[in-house]
Amino acid sequence: MHTYQKLLLTNKAWAAQKLRVDPNYFNELSKDQTPDYLWIGCSDSRVPADQVTGTQPGEIFVHRNVANLVLHTDMNLLSVLQYAVEVLKVKHILVVGHYNCGGVKAAMSNEDFGLINKWLRNIKDIYEKHEDELNGISDETLRFNRLVELNVIEQVKNLAKTTIVQKAWANGEYPYLHGWVFDLHTGLINQIIEVESGDLNTINPIHRFNIPDKKTADLENLMKD
Ligand code: CO
Repeated sequence: MHTYQKLLLTNKAWAAQKLRVDPNYFNELSKDQTPDYLWIGCSDSRVPADQVTGTQPGEIFVHRNVANLVLHTDMNLLSVLQYAVEVLKVKHILVVGHYNCGGVKAAMSNEDFGLINKWLRNIKDIYEKHEDELNGISDETLRFNRLVELNVIEQVKNLAKTTIVQKAWANGEYPYLHGWVFDLHTGLINQIIEVESGDLNTINPIHRFNIPDKKTADLENLMKD
């Protein structure tokens, strides 16, 4: 038997188990999704969003890439973000890094990894931005851990820099933004940063867009008529 066949067998057993507990499970599941959370995590196989948070199908909308980056040129990430915020109206966006992240480690080295250099370049830029703090940490593991945390903080800030998030903030109470780091040694998540809805102080003023809230915009349109 090929190893992948085990996955299909396990899937059959899983579906049967769900039906045993609740014969209506898949009827309900197939109706729609109303997740409260968007998870932006690393592709690393050791950090599965649902298992480490004990959430069920339908509870977390997930995007994963190498080193959990939020890049303003990444159509994939932006499409996920727009759908999650504007259509699903998620309440919390979780950027979840993890210590021992291979992507962050690769970015810390001077090795040429080919195409992925261009992706990792974004982490090198974060290193450069926080060079004084990072170079002040002599222990290499602690410096590596800190870059993982700084990376998560910068990605949370990148979320706040998007018009998608700023428009949602102008018109409602959500989403809150969270930066978390998962520790593979303990299985626990460290909360690194939390940004409440509307808190533009997180980002430099140059990144704040003039977005009228819906009430003001409606009023302005009325006055034009
Ligand atoms: Co990783």
